[in-house]
Amino acid sequence: MDIYGADYYPEHWDKSYWGNHIELMKKYGIEWVRIGEFMWSVVEPREGEFDFSILDESIQLLKDNGIKIILGTPTATPPAWLVNKYPEILPKGWDGRVRGFGSRRHYSLNSKPYLEYALRITEKYASQYKDTVDAWQIDNEFGCHGTTYSFTDADLIAFRDWLSEKYESIDNLNKAWGTVFWSQTYNNWDEIVFPINTPTFENPHQMLDIYRFMSDSSIDFLKMQVDIIRKHSSKPITHNFMIDFMDLDYRKMAQFIDFVSWDNYIATEEYDPLRQSANHALMRSLKHQPFLVIEQQPGRVNWRQVNDNYAGEYLGMWTKQAYIAGAMGVMPFRFDQIRFGAEQYHAGLLDYAGRPTKRLESYSKTKEETGGIVNQKPEVAIYFDYENEWMHRINHLNRNFKYWDGIVEIYKAVKKLGYNVEFVFSDEDIDDFDVLIVPFAFYIPDNFIDKIRKFSGAVYMTAMSDVKDEYNWLTEKMPSHLIEEFGIEVIDFGAINIQSGILLNQEVKTYYWKDEIEVVDAKVIGAFDDGLPLVTLKNNRYYVSSVLDNKGWSLLLTESLKPRIVGNGCEVVNCSGGTRILNLEEIEKTIYIDGKKLVLKPFELRIFDKR
Ligand code: GLA
Repeated sequence: MDIYGADYYPEHWDKSYWGNHIELMKKYGIEWVRIGEFMWSVVEPREGEFDFSILDESIQLLKDNGIKIILGTPTATPPAWLVNKYPEILPKGWDGRVRGFGSRRHYSLNSKPYLEYALRITEKYASQYKDTVDAWQIDNEFGCHGTTYSFTDADLIAFRDWLSEKYESIDNLNKAWGTVFWSQTYNNWDEIVFPINTPTFENPHQMLDIYRFMSDSSIDFLKMQVDIIRKHSSKPITHNFMIDFMDLDYRKMAQFIDFVSWDNYIATEEYDPLRQSANHALMRSLKHQPFLVIEQQPGRVNWRQVNDNYAGEYLGMWTKQAYIAGAMGVMPFRFDQIRFGAEQYHAGLLDYAGRPTKRLESYSKTKEETGGIVNQKPEVAIYFDYENEWMHRINHLNRNFKYWDGIVEIYKAVKKLGYNVEFVFSDEDIDDFDVLIVPFAFYIPDNFIDKIRKFSGAVYMTAMSDVKDEYNWLTEKMPSHLIEEFGIEVIDFGAINIQSGILLNQEVKTYYWKDEIEVVDAKVIGAFDDGLPLVTLKNNRYYVSSVLDNKGWSLLLTESLKPRIVGNGCEVVNCSGGTRILNLEEIEKTIYIDGKKLVLKPFELRIFDKR
C-alpha cells in the first residue's frame, strides 16, 4: 500500500503538543495525515475575518517532517455566527422540524446563504494551500446523521426546478407519478410540496424522485467544491464515503472525484468481518480502482449504544483486510485521543496522555506484512444499483427486506467458496467475469438487459428483478424483458417470513418474498416445501423465486463455482502474484484450500500459491 497515515486534529491541541505527536508519527511510520475538515470557525472566527495561522503552522511543521497532507474542506461545520445571521440554512427533517446548531452537518444543501459562504471558505482553503497539500477531501461524510434529506423552503424550490428540468411539463410529471391515484394531480410546479407528516403512504413515484433529488443535491455541492479546488490545485480530490450507506448514489458521486475514500467502521449490531469485506468491494467497484480507507475504526468508538473495546491487534487485521481488498492505504481515525468533545470516548492511536497504544503498535507492524496494491482477478460479478435500494425502501410487499442485506448474504456465499466478488453497474462491460448475479434488481435498464442476454457465463437472477420501470411502476409482464432468457414467467407473488425448500437434494430456507412462477421452458432444480418451483435452470440461466441466505447461495453456486475452501474464519483473495489468505479471527485457524492444509496464526496474512 502507498498510504500509511492517520487522521489528525492539530486545532484540538495547544501547539506545545504537536512536537511529540510528530515525533511519534515518524517513529511509527505515519507518513500521511488528514487534517482541517472541521476547522471553519478556527480559520473564520467571525464573518469575513480569516486567520489561517494554526493551519499554516501545523501544515508547515508536518511538511518539514516529511509528512504528507490530505486537507479536508470545513463545510460540514458552519460556524455559529453564520447560523445566527442566516438561521434558514439549518436543515429540516422528514418531520418538517428544524435540525438545530450544536453538533455538525447542520445545513441545507440548497440554502443560498449557506452555499455562498461554504464555497467562499472552500475557495479560501484552495487558494491558501494550492499544491502545498498532497490531496483534498471534500466536506466530510455527506449524508451522515440522516442529513441527505432536508425539506426547507429552499429545498422545495430547488426540488421543483429539478422536476421541471426532468419532466419539462406538469402533464409528464402527473403521468410519471400516477397522480390520478388519490387525486394528487398538479396543475403547476408551485402546487408540488414535500410529503411531510402525511396521514398514510406517500406517492412511491414522487418518493423515488425525492431520493434522486436529495442525492443529486449532495453530488452538485461536491462538484461545486471540486471545480473550485481544480482552479487552484492539481492535487487529487476525494470524499469519504460511509459503510452500508445507501442514501447517496455513490456510484454517481464517485465519477466527480479522483479516488474513492471510505470510513470503515463496524455499523451492525454484530461484528461480521465479511460484511466489512463486502463494503470494501463495493467501494473498490465504484471506480474499479484502488481506494483509500481514510478513516479506519481503531478499536473503541463513541457513537454506538454499546461501545465495546477491541484488542489492539484487531486494527492490524482490519488494515490487512483492506489491503487484500485492494486499498491503496488505510488511515486510522484518529491519531490523537482527546479528552473533550462529543467524541471524547473515541479511541485513538495514542492514549489520553499522548502515549503510543497497542493499536498504534499493531497498525505500524502492518507495513512489514503488506506490499504493493493488490489487484483482484475478475471472477464473480454482482449487479448493483443504488436506485434499486431506494425502490426497495420506498414501498414493499415485505418491509423487513433490505436490498443491501440480501446482497451481503450473496457476497458472503461467494467468499466462503473462495472466489472474488466485484460489483458491476449497468453501463459497464462484464465480459471478463465467469459468473453474473442479478439480485433483487427491481428496475434493470435496457443496456444491462442486453448484457445479461449476451453474457457467456452463468447468470443467477432472483425474484424482485426486472419487474419495475424507471418511474417505479410495476411492469405488466414479469420479468419484463427476460421471460424467454430464463424460461419462466412470474404469474403471482406474495410476502413470506421463512419457508423451507429442497435445492439440489438439500434443505434450504427461503425468506421475505415468494414468486409463483410458470415454467415455460426450464428445468426445476429446487422447490418450496409446497412443491412450487424455487429454482429453475435454462441453459446456464438460473432463476431464484425467493431470497436465500448465504448457506442456500453457497449450495446453489456450486453449480458454477467449485468450492476452493474448506473451513471458515478466513478471507481468500485471488490476485496477480498469488492467493492472499487472511485469518479474520484472534484464534489459530486450520483451513484447506484447493485441498492443501494451512494452519494460520491469529490474524495472520499469508500468500499462498505464489505466481
Ligand atoms: C465518522 C466521521 C468522523 C468521526 C468518526 C467517529 O466517520 O467522519 O469525523 O465522527 O466517524 O467514529
